[in-house]
Amino acid sequence: MIRRFAGGALLAFSLAALFMASRAEESPQSASNAPVYTAEGQLNFPRNYREWIYVTTGFDMDYNPDLNMGDHSMFDNVFVNPESYKSFLATGTWPDKTVLVLEGRMAVTKGSINKKGSFQSTDVMFRSAHVKDASLPGGWAFFTFDEGKPGKQIPRTAVCYSCHEEHAAVDTTFVQFYPTLIEIAKQKHTLSPNYVKEESAVAAKEAGK
Ligand code: HEC
Repeated sequence: MIRRFAGGALLAFSLAALFMASRAEESPQSASNAPVYTAEGQLNFPRNYREWIYVTTGFDMDYNPDLNMGDHSMFDNVFVNPESYKSFLATGTWPDKTVLVLEGRMAVTKGSINKKGSFQSTDVMFRSAHVKDASLPGGWAFFTFDEGKPGKQIPRTAVCYSCHEEHAAVDTTFVQFYPTLIEIAKQKHTLSPNYVKEESAVAAKEAGK
């Protein structure tokens, strides 16, 4: 797998990463981690998101109809700004100005002393953000980033919005897969009606087996 990135490709990637890092330095970032938009309404890349709160890692989760991974494996890592994480612990839901970042990385099996299992590659396959912002239509919006540049908002007609609205456990976010948060949502009764209905249908089916 890693051989695919060897030699020239690796050098090209390193140069791209350097360029990306220097570009990212230029975009202003507010001290509070709240979303910052450009004049055109694009979301500035939250370049310190790796210092935020780690929420989860999914491995080869299969839910995105647009993602054609072939026989490659991928990890996806979710991070959230610390202020919003603290607020979730207290309330079971997200405050306004929450930013969640999803980062995709290829799974690598060959490297160093590894004999079995997979670890995450240094190259990022994609990064997107899910932002709660009462000033935007719908109250939540998805953005996708290209190499640390400000991210364009994904149009509201995209499948991202419908899947998250119909199936996510809390406030259009997939808290059912976030191990430190799902119990809090249950205790605080913040689960979405759609999710509760889906879960009871699953439970009824299991009971009928
Ligand atoms: C068929 C359902 C589905 C579709 C379509 C979908 N997602 Fe998700 N999304 C998920 C699931 C499931 C997770 C949880 C991932 C995990 O646990 O690692 C998730 C998590 C996320 C997160 C982390 C924060 C959160 O909201 O929970 C972001 C950001 C995200 N998706 C962006 C997108 C974007 C952008 C698109 C459209 C290009 C999209 N998603 C399309 C199911 C979907």
